[in-house]
Amino acid sequence: MSRRTFVAGNWKMNTRADAAVALAGAVRDGLPSDSRCEVALCPPSLYLHAVRQTLGDSPIGVGGQNLYPEADGAFTGEINAAMLVDVGCRYVILGHSERRQLMGETDQDVASKCRAALDAGLTPIVCIGETLEQREAEMTNSVVDSQIRGSLHGLSPEDAARIVLAYEPVWAIGTGRTATPEQAEAVHAFIRALLGELFGEAVANQIRIQYGGSVKPGNAAELLGQPNIDGALVGGASLKAEDFLGIIAAAPQS
Ligand code: 13P
Repeated sequence: MSRRTFVAGNWKMNTRADAAVALAGAVRDGLPSDSRCEVALCPPSLYLHAVRQTLGDSPIGVGGQNLYPEADGAFTGEINAAMLVDVGCRYVILGHSERRQLMGETDQDVASKCRAALDAGLTPIVCIGETLEQREAEMTNSVVDSQIRGSLHGLSPEDAARIVLAYEPVWAIGTGRTATPEQAEAVHAFIRALLGELFGEAVANQIRIQYGGSVKPGNAAELLGQPNIDGALVGGASLKAEDFLGIIAAAPQS
């Protein structure tokens, strides 16, 4: 079963209005018209609208970096799924390790957010991944197993077929230390087997699993060439149009 490669840029809390528009414009202009890759940009929420406007009728989608899983109401400072849809989002990143570590997000929080995203018609990009300490203690598979069971709790196979997973080993994020293609593929294969157990093999074969953690133009081809790596969630290298486009160009075109 062929899964369309999906490369998304997580701009995190970087860029300002002018830079966000310039970056989106450069990615829009540089994306080859015959690219088979699905591409998304996830700017800070304040700039979603401007980035969406800049992309115009380009096939590039935009995504939020988080949401609050409630309908409108007294939740000062929060943004919900309907608001992301309003400004033209197709995607939302959920459960990024920075949110898990810095904001104390739990698997249960991620599951509620995932439900809210799906109900609003957004594609959730659900992030999971182990810390260096956990990898060294040979806990990678058990950590990823419990994060997936918790973060996808309550989803039906039909729901699960609509999500994207991003395996992002915490030790590879922003460190320049990428998982080797073999290390990443081993975890992706483990994740796909688990998804098969939870949602059935047909659904598991449909779900895209992105790799994230120091993806660069120079290592993208090898990573994206692995059988169970279906795309990339890119941080630092997504802030330079040339590098982000280089990663997209390295994706298999079949
Ligand atoms: P880097 O590509 O900067 O390592 O960040 C990865 C990431 O966290 C994407 O969500």
